Amino acid sequence: MPQPWWRSAVFYQVYVRSFADSDDDGIGDLPGITSHLEHVRDLGADAIWITPFYPSPQKDHGYDVSDYFEVNPEYGTLDDFDGLLERAHELRLKVLVDIVPNHTSDQHDWFRAAVSAPDNSFRERYHFADPKPDGAPPNNWTSSFGGPAWSPEPAGKQWYLHLFAPEQPDLNWWNPAVPKEFERILEFWLDRSADGFRIDVAAALFKRRDLEDRPFLIDPITGLPKFDSDFAIVDQPQLHDVYRRWRQIANGYEPARVLVGEIFDPRRHAKYIVPDQLHMAFALIHQRWDAGLWRRSIENSRRALQGPGAGPTWTLANHDVVRPVTRLGGGSLGRCRARAALLLLLGLPGQVFLYQGEELGLEEADMPDSARQDPIFLRTEGRLKGRDGCRVPLPWRRGRPNAGFSNANPWLPMPAGWDQFAVEAQAGAGDSTLAHFRRALAARRRLWNRLPERVDWLHTPDGVLAYARGPLVVACNFLSRPARLRLQGRLEAASEPLVAEKTGILHLPPNSAAWLLRVARPRQADGREALTSA
Ligand code: NOJ
Repeated sequence: MPQPWWRSAVFYQVYVRSFADSDDDGIGDLPGITSHLEHVRDLGADAIWITPFYPSPQKDHGYDVSDYFEVNPEYGTLDDFDGLLERAHELRLKVLVDIVPNHTSDQHDWFRAAVSAPDNSFRERYHFADPKPDGAPPNNWTSSFGGPAWSPEPAGKQWYLHLFAPEQPDLNWWNPAVPKEFERILEFWLDRSADGFRIDVAAALFKRRDLEDRPFLIDPITGLPKFDSDFAIVDQPQLHDVYRRWRQIANGYEPARVLVGEIFDPRRHAKYIVPDQLHMAFALIHQRWDAGLWRRSIENSRRALQGPGAGPTWTLANHDVVRPVTRLGGGSLGRCRARAALLLLLGLPGQVFLYQGEELGLEEADMPDSARQDPIFLRTEGRLKGRDGCRVPLPWRRGRPNAGFSNANPWLPMPAGWDQFAVEAQAGAGDSTLAHFRRALAARRRLWNRLPERVDWLHTPDGVLAYARGPLVVACNFLSRPARLRLQGRLEAASEPLVAEKTGILHLPPNSAAWLLRVARPRQADGREALTSA
């Protein structure tokens, strides 16, 4: 049976504000995306996910939506959206829209109505509650952006719930008007030819109904009080009916549309990634550079999703986490490791999500505090730096103002020399990170239908990981010294740089990985293969 298009697809995440600016206001926009889609096609991706482009006061850069049926005028118009879809489809790229169902902006019509009068019926669409008798918030839940998850409403006597910023009031999914509205929103974008959705904070929509305080426990090791992590605020069983309904909607289109949940914890994946609910959720690998930790993390995600029709969705980066090059050591060391990590994950069964700039080897950018805009930075009074560093606009051209992103100053400043990473500068250089990504994605595409689902880990010396998928062997050296390894069978290099000799001896430089194709496969007496030091 042919696989659906999304199975094993490579998705490329476009952070709209920072991708490409077509009208020189320093802010990326939809026409900017349309005119740079060839970059994504040339990279070898199958689809893009665009972060929220709806009208929004931008208190959380688009994740505070004030109108789900329009385009933020800073980013363009609905016609621009249609034009983007048309061009993407001409280039055989699918397009996922980001849907934000957990909360709206406090400037959304519903919330404005809700706070306009104490008896307004729209209050039922959010969570309003009385403060405690001593004036404290209704319960002790905390916001992911720091501080309590409740704020007093501007004029009334009650408080409202926000798991993120106060400008992002949480919707009350127990009220049937809320799920009904989101079905309308889904259909609106699907009817405009969107190929699916990335669902923001996908496990959180229903909050526990009693809004009880989260109990404290005494940590047996430190003796200090801590929140009871088994006390579920979110992940309520009613959510599954919502996703069943969404799946029916997605299946009503031809070809069926796809639903990607923003859920990272592998222990929760199996509940949502089932044939009548979501298609995928993220397997974000963010361990430090250590062979054992990476193997464990990969295995946890693989074990979480057993059975046909579902596989992990490998991810190293997105707009919320420190860029992998920086996480993995920074500079050329971090870049080598990030390249190796790509090869390690690309060979595994499942989907892959790349984040814009990963293919250029961008690092987390530093900037003066006065330039920072992330609510995490602002709400923690600078204690946490926040996510601006991974959101700095893309460099497109060398020697151009603002590296070709815009003729105006970009909304976040670019570090000096940012243009050395420009797409144009890397495109012609065989040893560039961009060239590495293109080669790796092309190799994956070439080999893919020859590879079984099954993954066999090979016995390796400490600090090296290797697995076989049928004829493909992927080996990754986490060490800071070269590894010289012997694998039985005759090998060909399937990826650049060439590190194999036909002798079967594999030279892996420090912090590098390689793909090898086995021409002849040996049988070991005990059925277990080894990649031994040579
Ligand atoms: C997850 C998004 O990726 C992040 O950027 C946002 O701040 C939160 N959800 C809240 O919407």
